[in-house]
Amino acid sequence: MLKKFVAGLLLLCSAQVLANEVNVYSAREEQLIKPLLDAFSQDTGIKVNLVTGDDDPLLERLKREGANSPADVLIMADAGRLYRAAAAGSLQAIHSATLEQAIPANLRDPGKQWFGLTSRARVLFYNPATVQAAELSSYEDLADPKWRGRICVRSSNSIYNQSLLASIIAAHGAAQAEQWAQGLAANLARPPSGGDRDQIKAVAAGQCDIAIANTYYYAQMLYGSDASQKAAASKVKLLFPNQRDRGTHINISGAGVTKSAKNRENAIKLLEYMVLDDAQRWYSTTNGEYPAKRGIAASPQLQSWGNFKSDALNLVALGKNNAQAVQIMDKAGWR
Ligand SMILES: [Fe+2]
Repeated sequence: MLKKFVAGLLLLCSAQVLANEVNVYSAREEQLIKPLLDAFSQDTGIKVNLVTGDDDPLLERLKREGANSPADVLIMADAGRLYRAAAAGSLQAIHSATLEQAIPANLRDPGKQWFGLTSRARVLFYNPATVQAAELSSYEDLADPKWRGRICVRSSNSIYNQSLLASIIAAHGAAQAEQWAQGLAANLARPPSGGDRDQIKAVAAGQCDIAIANTYYYAQMLYGSDASQKAAASKVKLLFPNQRDRGTHINISGAGVTKSAKNRENAIKLLEYMVLDDAQRWYSTTNGEYPAKRGIAASPQLQSWGNFKSDALNLVALGKNNAQAVQIMDKAGWR
């Protein structure tokens, strides 16, 4: 009887040891990440269980599950959200020389709880028939009354805009950031609606002359298979703002290991796999983003837009300044 029990126990233990897997919660769509996870499984023998969902619901789920969460790795877009996950106690610090060498210090958490994997710039798109490139310079300039009724940008609910304003708070302080937000809100061509692609389409349709949007949306429109989006993107031009001072505002998609991780070592292995040169090339190109890793070139399509200087601000500031940014947008009437 006892023998049988011990044998059963041993079997149970070895089954657990043999469960060589890692559980991923990803805010990135399945087709934008699954091939990379499959390659990881093939190379390491570690099975990946993937759960995909929208950023905020996924983060809520992780918080709700707490210590019982099956998730080992969390993948999300925007440093503001990764900061939120860390602040909620949902992530843990990872000490990995591989990750620290691969990813520039400003694109990862100084507390080592999250790491950028791809980066994107929030840039200006303009109608070359109505705006000369030389008239555009900086985010700050968009608050000038000369642009009254000419700018399209999505709602202040978007974390992309909150993070942009957070970077302006970091550069100029809250008082100037508020003046800027007021000026921008006063210059909008229409009440904010739709996502970043819709702002680019609105410029193409002549509803506004300038839009603010992330680079990968433009890449997906311009180089994707949707003919009408391609046509719209072809009508606008891209400009990297703030090249004469701190550089263009950038953000990341990134990942961290969850506090509850039962497969911690495998989770670290997966993050380290995602910063291999080939993985960086595939992962960034697939979504039209820039690689986060030092020394890895962007896709030829993105390179064709030219090099640009990016804001060197540590992206943790986007999370730290988020609440203040939201308050300022509310006060400024940026809907
Ligand atoms: Fe996005």
